Amino acid sequence: MSFDLQPQEKLSPLWRIATFVVMIVGFSILGLVTRIAYDNTPPIPKQVVSPTGKVLFTEEQIIAGQGVFLKNNLMEHGTLWGHGAYLGPDYSASHLHEQALTLQELLAHKIYGKSFEQLNQYEQGSILHEVPQILKQNRYDSSTGTLTFTEEESQAYAHSLNYWKDYFTLGLAPGLPKNYIANPQDQHTLTAFFAWAAWAAVTNRPNEEFTYTNNFPYDPLAGNHPSADAYLWSAISLIFILGVTGLVLFIVSKFGLGWGGSIKNRHVCETRLTLPALTPSQKTLGKYFVIVALLFLFQSLAGGALAHYRVESSFYGLPLLDYLPYNLLRTWHLQLSIFWIATAWIAGGLFIAPLLSGSEPRYQKFGVNLLFGALLIVIIGSLIGEYLSSINYFQGDWWFWVGNQGS
Ligand code: HEM
Repeated sequence: MSFDLQPQEKLSPLWRIATFVVMIVGFSILGLVTRIAYDNTPPIPKQVVSPTGKVLFTEEQIIAGQGVFLKNNLMEHGTLWGHGAYLGPDYSASHLHEQALTLQELLAHKIYGKSFEQLNQYEQGSILHEVPQILKQNRYDSSTGTLTFTEEESQAYAHSLNYWKDYFTLGLAPGLPKNYIANPQDQHTLTAFFAWAAWAAVTNRPNEEFTYTNNFPYDPLAGNHPSADAYLWSAISLIFILGVTGLVLFIVSKFGLGWGGSIKNRHVCETRLTLPALTPSQKTLGKYFVIVALLFLFQSLAGGALAHYRVESSFYGLPLLDYLPYNLLRTWHLQLSIFWIATAWIAGGLFIAPLLSGSEPRYQKFGVNLLFGALLIVIIGSLIGEYLSSINYFQGDWWFWVGNQGS
């Protein structure tokens, strides 16, 4: 296979300039947006206290809880602030909703001495009005780093500890085995992390009428509704991307602008599909494609099992859940796709290189074999690391380096 480009067929330099402009402008905007995002992150309080000053949880516990979340790969089970997998819940939304329901019940007892169910619709209306008022008010004091929960919020936090303990131990989490997170300290810090995430999702930013997550998740009970800006900017971004793409295509096709360079006759760029004899490095590349096929097969099987979890927790009677929890399979599903695509990409590049250069560099075959070994180590190491992480094999911080996070 070869491409014969005659000098007069070179593309216009405008393409190169456009590539640089797009790169520079694109990465500058990415950098700027990242900066703005970091400047507007929700604060992590040093401590969260009840009105009497009792410490409910601390910054260290929130961070440790995030570690428990990552170590146990919960982002491959559910979502947090909308990011992650779709079998489990959105943990921040679940915590928030549970908190709002508990507040509803606590307020009904406090104000009317009855459960919420027993109230008439006017009484219920007053409670439904009150719950968002409590949740939306930002009681974080940046000068001391202290967030104060109301009495009802403090009680709701105690309730949520039991809620998450039950969730992870009684087999209530779809696709996860019983006692998945059985360590009480882990349950405690994880709840602190969820409580902080839910707080950031519902409390208004200082001097604003929207939350740190721009009112995500939608939860009318907690007073979270999409802001007008969310509608406006979603619509604007959609119109902008489609409109500008259309405009560019229109201008280039209508006016040409010399972007075709000096190509006189586009048909001269001919492709000959007869290959010269394979070089030694090309021959040795065959095994890459065997691996690609195997990885793709394995990925599709993992995808099939994932889809199966939507229906039942065993696989036609086989106790799949005990060996391959959903979050592990989903991690494998995504990792395997990255691996086979990357392997095929690398192998394709290595195959074409001698064709383009017309000769085989020295030690090319050795390099191809060396790279193959490296690929196998990375692929097998990653899959095993994720498996060991899922059975809680790693001690200390090892999960971070070679477990779900590192792999
Ligand atoms: C038999 C074939 C496949 C099946 C049955 C399947 C099934 C699934 C299922 C059920 C999920 C949802 C997991 C969740 O979010 O909780 C998923 C996610 C995903 N799959 Fe597949 N899959 C297949 C093939 C593939 C292939 C060939 C690729 C890419 C090369 C792929 C890439 C992905 C990605 C990137 C996600 C994550 C999507 C997201 O987070 O929004 N899948 N797949």
